Amino acid sequence: MRDLASAAQVKIGSAVSGERLDPVTGEAAYRQWVGDQLNTITTENELKWKHVEPAQGVFTYDKANKVLDFAEAHQQDVRGHTLVWHSDLPDWVGELQPTELRSALQTHITSVVGNYRDRVDVWDVVNEPLDDQGNLRGSEDHSFWAERLGASYIADAFRWAHDADPDAELYLNEYGIEADSPKARGLYALVQQLVEDDVPIDGIGFQTHKLETTRLSGLSDMMRRFTDLGLEVAITEVDVRMPKPADPGKLARQADVYGWATGACLAVPGCVSVTTWGFTDKYSWINTHPDYKEDWEAATLLDDQYTPKPAYGRVQQVLAAGRPAVADPVAAWRLDEPSGVLRAADASTSPIRHFALAGDGVLGQEGRTPYLGGFKAGGVGAGATTLASAVRTDISYTVTAWINPSSSTADQVIASQAGTNRNAFVLGQRAGKYYFTIPTQDSASGVDQTLESKAAVVPGEWIHVTALWNNGWGHAQIYLNGVWDSSSPLWNKPTWASTGVFRIGGLAASKAFGGSISDLRVYQRAVPDTEIAGLATPVVGEWTFDGHTGDTSWFHRDAWARSDAPLTWTANRHGTADSAINLTGTQLIDTRGGQPLFTDRSYAISVWVKLTDANGDGRADGTGDQVVLAADGTTVSPFYLRFKRGSTAADDRWQFAMPVSDTGGAAQTVTSSSSTARGGVWTHLAVVWNKTSGRAQLFVDNTLAGTGPVTSSWRARADGSLHIGVAQAGNLIGALDDLRLYQRTLTSAEIAALYAG
Ligand code: XIL
Repeated sequence: MRDLASAAQVKIGSAVSGERLDPVTGEAAYRQWVGDQLNTITTENELKWKHVEPAQGVFTYDKANKVLDFAEAHQQDVRGHTLVWHSDLPDWVGELQPTELRSALQTHITSVVGNYRDRVDVWDVVNEPLDDQGNLRGSEDHSFWAERLGASYIADAFRWAHDADPDAELYLNEYGIEADSPKARGLYALVQQLVEDDVPIDGIGFQTHKLETTRLSGLSDMMRRFTDLGLEVAITEVDVRMPKPADPGKLARQADVYGWATGACLAVPGCVSVTTWGFTDKYSWINTHPDYKEDWEAATLLDDQYTPKPAYGRVQQVLAAGRPAVADPVAAWRLDEPSGVLRAADASTSPIRHFALAGDGVLGQEGRTPYLGGFKAGGVGAGATTLASAVRTDISYTVTAWINPSSSTADQVIASQAGTNRNAFVLGQRAGKYYFTIPTQDSASGVDQTLESKAAVVPGEWIHVTALWNNGWGHAQIYLNGVWDSSSPLWNKPTWASTGVFRIGGLAASKAFGGSISDLRVYQRAVPDTEIAGLATPVVGEWTFDGHTGDTSWFHRDAWARSDAPLTWTANRHGTADSAINLTGTQLIDTRGGQPLFTDRSYAISVWVKLTDANGDGRADGTGDQVVLAADGTTVSPFYLRFKRGSTAADDRWQFAMPVSDTGGAAQTVTSSSSTARGGVWTHLAVVWNKTSGRAQLFVDNTLAGTGPVTSSWRARADGSLHIGVAQAGNLIGALDDLRLYQRTLTSAEIAALYAG
């Protein structure tokens, strides 16, 4: 691997143990693998405070030295892990009061970094400083650093480390920041401030402890946010655990996740290394750590006999492919920066390009998901214009974006690229349809070829629009919400490579886009269906309930118990043990904060439920109604989905309710029409609230079981957290699996796919 990595201009590494690398007392197979395969190694534990300074002023370097000696003998970089962390501290540190604590920290950093001056290449100076909400970790999250020393302890630590070794690269290392989330945003704000304050920080470490079911979407985007600040980034601790027992399917998915992680790093020019947290299951922390060892295993590239798993081959394969010659996408704009702040980017190293705002275009407007902003052209000016051209138009290309049009009839342009004489392409809406125009040549007499969508433009709804020109087939295609809508073989291929500017949200003042645009990307290739579907995924929250309670990545969020009642797990609908959450009617389950859905817009919910039927009479246990899930409003729940118990089994129903206001306003309910609410069977429930039509629908096992009437919609935005299996009363006695929240309606085809899946 190390040769492949060198060729790809990236380092490949692992956390290692000094003891096992010892030439005399170590393990030959272990030594050989580390020496042959890796060109960077990280001290897994030896440089943590409790090991390196167990008593105040007493420094023990012998174990860490074994790692250093090995690295030097094998021409490897060393990452020193870690100087300030809330964990693995000796007791004496916790007993110090602020003044002594600060000076103990300074002494610690100065001594340890100074001891390895010019020998340790990279330091994880600060490890895991944030809580899940993106705030500095406090005592409830087991850290005293910020509470005792103030927020400045972070900048101080970097400055002291820099003074002790000005040539070492200094990192802030964190987990759960791989996709957009409150934590990732909190980290960005913190780091932006450090950079602004000239704190000597060089890089951000993405730990990347993941599950085999994690989709690592967004990792390269997130990395680019930090490289755009002038920092480097690295994957520092990747491992991909799976619920016991490992099987070929899980190992195959694990390979995907390792491949995505490696590929994400290679796609970002400022990503310098990929380090795994251990390389053989024989010594993986997942097999020994109390949080994981009972239920999880097989997280590394090699099994406990050092036999490579599919993931090892995949990492090799991705490394062999090298860094993409052209960053993919060739241009991307998230358009969600705070008003007036443009992301700094150099078009030569980053696909996130500068753009200038023209007309009434503004940034930072409310966006596609609760946490994304969106560019709003305001319907007056010509919108935003990029400073650089985006795609060559004489070969395949794809333009893809989330938009929310404010009108269906106006002639409006979402994105276009200028040619010398004619527009190189235009993606817009006109007469109630989307259209994609490709002129064949850049001459005044050139012919425009236009493809129009079958589906109509729906104002006020977020929709994902993709326009694709496939030069090989001579086809233009439009996809809406990731699904093929229309295509046309064009009679003439474009023959000219446009070099004009790329415009967002306008072409001329008269064609300015009047809604919001978010997450716009341009690719110099025909993006395949599956990838388009992935870009279009509207899931804003997803809980797979696979028995794990510690993962915080945004697209794989877990529930947590607010009461003392511990969560328990049961077999999911496929019979996989411990893969569905089991609720006894006593737990209070909350999502990890955040704003899962905006209830004043369209949304949809999909969930599998099994009501407990202990006595086998086909009815749910308990004597009353049971809430499957509900969101928090200020005064009332903006919605809830529940089992409503009737006087006899034939009267048992599923029910979805939406109050009309946040003041206790009357709930409007949709009730399943027949007795579909049985105990003891897995049932798929889908709820769709369509803001535009003002209709709520309830699907039970893919069959429409109830519709409105919903005469008025929730007027206030509910931004409370989602409660699972609980509302004010009537907690769920049963199991839940695979809960998803969408900030848009679901089509019947999508509901069918969720039901079948
Ligand atoms: C883990 C080690 O792998 C274990 O051996 C040790 O007992 C606890 O710490 N994030 C980090 C690492 O930054 O330091 C942790 O390492 C894993 C999570």
